[in-house]
Amino acid sequence: MSMTQTVEDALKKPFGTVYADKMAVARYKDGVWTPFDIQEVKPFEMHPAAHVFHYSSTCFEGLKCHRQVDGSVHVFRLDRHIERFRNSAERLCLPIPDADQVDAMVCELVAECADWAPVFPGSLYVRPTLIGTLPSIGAAAGPSTEALLFVILSPVGDYFSGGLRPLKLLVEEKMRTAPTLGMVKTGGNYAAALYATRKAREKYGTDQVLFAPDGFIQETGAANFLMISEDRIVTKALDPSFLHGVTRDSLLKIGARMGKEIEEREISVDELLTWAKTGECALSGTAAVLGGVGSLVYREETYTVGTGDYGDETAKMRSALVDIQRGKAEDTFGWLKRI
Ligand code: PLP
Ligand code: COI
Repeated sequence: MSMTQTVEDALKKPFGTVYADKMAVARYKDGVWTPFDIQEVKPFEMHPAAHVFHYSSTCFEGLKCHRQVDGSVHVFRLDRHIERFRNSAERLCLPIPDADQVDAMVCELVAECADWAPVFPGSLYVRPTLIGTLPSIGAAAGPSTEALLFVILSPVGDYFSGGLRPLKLLVEEKMRTAPTLGMVKTGGNYAAALYATRKAREKYGTDQVLFAPDGFIQETGAANFLMISEDRIVTKALDPSFLHGVTRDSLLKIGARMGKEIEEREISVDELLTWAKTGECALSGTAAVLGGVGSLVYREETYTVGTGDYGDETAKMRSALVDIQRGKAEDTFGWLKRI
């Protein structure tokens, strides 16, 4: 099968299930990082007592490379993702890799695997990951002083199956994660949200749970939440309880440039239900891009959002973002880096 065919086929499979054949790998031991190398993707050998298996010392990033209209491949906001990755590592007491090292691992790997970058609407998803590998089950109270850092790549299409369709969310008055860990992109946060998300899917057929601890909107298990209208974008103000999305930040900047008022503040569930009568709601994330929300389930009742369809303003915002990412609109913010 040709490479192009393999990549095209990958887009028809569930998000993140096909991988490029190479990865970048570096190790930390005795206080130093080894230089990274690019190698064939294969299983790692690890001691069963490795810190990560027992105490969840792991963090990761999710970013994308986009094939441009002219055929070149560009990575989107790599610096912001590296900054968040390093903050996550620090919060988890993992060795913090140098920004330059992660940058080089991503860029050199993508350069070697450029054929794996699909044409629009596909993209090449990049997953840098850091895990604690110290073999010591006695180290629960201590950090892992050994670590493995790797970057893998996955050609992807839509995150939500079924393409651009209005999403259905269950609004749950629960925490997604421990209060100050929400802004850390660590595996345990995703494990914590699985149960609520699966239950909601089984019971209500929802795509995601929108966590709203104490009746105030936070985020979903895989994306940030925005309320969008012709003249405004309203979203939760940054605090340590949720992930500070790079896509959220990008959309707020694009929205401000379009002349929309940006309101970063608390949103109660009551306000959301009132907003939903006329306004639009959407989920933003690297994987999700900007997904329109069509309905909300709250305390056993279903509420239609706007017309129940993918909102016009949401579609406009999504196009504005995607056009920059794929080089169709000028990158005035300086978000793209050519590989
Ligand atoms: N919130 C959660 C829990 C996520 O997993 C993601 C995805 O990365 C986001 C928000 C959005 O973050 P970003 O836009 O940086 O991908
Ligand atoms: C991303 O959007 O990059 C994420 O990490 C979400 C993940 C559930 C795919």
